[in-house]
Amino acid sequence: MPGSLNGNTRLYGIIGNPVQHTFSPAMHNGAFSALNLNAIYVAFPVLPELLESAVKGLKALNIAGINVTVPYKTAIIPFLDDITPLAQSIGAVNTVIHHSGCLTGTNTDGPGFVRSLQEISFDPAQKTIGILGAGGSARAILATLAKNGAKRLLLNNRTHARAEALVAEFQLLFPHIPLEAVSLEALYPQELDLLINTTSAGMKDPIAPVDLKRFSTIRNVADIIYNPPETKFLEQARQLGIPAMNGLGMLLFQGCEAFEFWTGQKAPEEVMKTELLKQISTK
Ligand code: ATR
Repeated sequence: MPGSLNGNTRLYGIIGNPVQHTFSPAMHNGAFSALNLNAIYVAFPVLPELLESAVKGLKALNIAGINVTVPYKTAIIPFLDDITPLAQSIGAVNTVIHHSGCLTGTNTDGPGFVRSLQEISFDPAQKTIGILGAGGSARAILATLAKNGAKRLLLNNRTHARAEALVAEFQLLFPHIPLEAVSLEALYPQELDLLINTTSAGMKDPIAPVDLKRFSTIRNVADIIYNPPETKFLEQARQLGIPAMNGLGMLLFQGCEAFEFWTGQKAPEEVMKTELLKQISTK
C-alpha cells in the first residue's frame, strides 16, 4: 500500500460487477509504492443501473484513471468523451484516463497479450497465427495482432458463424491482412507460427479446445487462461515439446500498459508480477 495519503493523492480504481476478486489493486498499489507515486487504486463495485452515474462521478471526484472489467467493457463506451482507434476496433474499453474533464478509453488487453509474447521470444510481425475462440478476448487479440503486422490470421470457433462474423467485421478494418474463419479440419494442416487459445475450454474442466497432437508443424502455443497455470492445452504442448505460455503475462502486461497510459512512466514489471503472484497464491 502507498505510505501516506494526503490532499494531493491521485485516485485510480477498477469498476465492474463483481470486483471483489480483482488482482488489479495489489498490482497497481505495489507499482505506485515502488515508484514513490502519491496515488492509490481501489475497487468500485458498480450496479448496472448506476454505470452512467459512476462514470460521471469520475469527473466530479477528479479520479485520474480506471480499469473497466466485466460486464462494462462495451457498455461504458457511450459515456466516454473519446476512445482510441484500437479500443474502437475491438469495441471494448478496459482502461480510462481522465484528463482535464475529458475521459478517454483505450484497450490494453490486446497490447498486454502481445507484450507477454516476449516470454516465448515471439514477435507477431509477418507471422501466420491461429486463434481459437471468437469472444471478447479473441477480438482484442485479433485486432492487436493485425495492428502489429501479422501476415495471416486464422480464426476457429466452436460456433463457426461467430468466427465468420468476426472475420467479416475485422477484414473491413484491416484490409491488408488476410483473415480467415476456418474449420478445425482446415486449421490442422496449416503451418502456424503460433496457436492461441482464447476460449474458456480448460478453465473449469481438464479439456483442450483442440487436439494439439494433430498439429505437426506448430511452432508456439499460448493460452490466455492463467488459472489453472497449466491447462490441458498447455500440458499437450509441453508433452510435444512446443514452446508455450499461459495467460499470466497477459494479465500482468495489460496492467503494465494501463499504468503507463495513466502515469507516462515505465511500469515496474517485476514488482507488479510479484504482487500478482502473491494474490494468485492466496486464492
Ligand atoms: P471472452 O470475452 O472471455 O472471450 P466469451 O465472449 O464468453 O468470453 O467467449 C468465450 C469463447 O470460448 C467463445 O469463443 C466460445 O465458443 P462459442 O462461441 O461457440 O460459445 C468458446 N468456448 C467456451 N467453451 C468452449 C469449449 N468447451 N470448447 C470450445 N470453445 C469454447
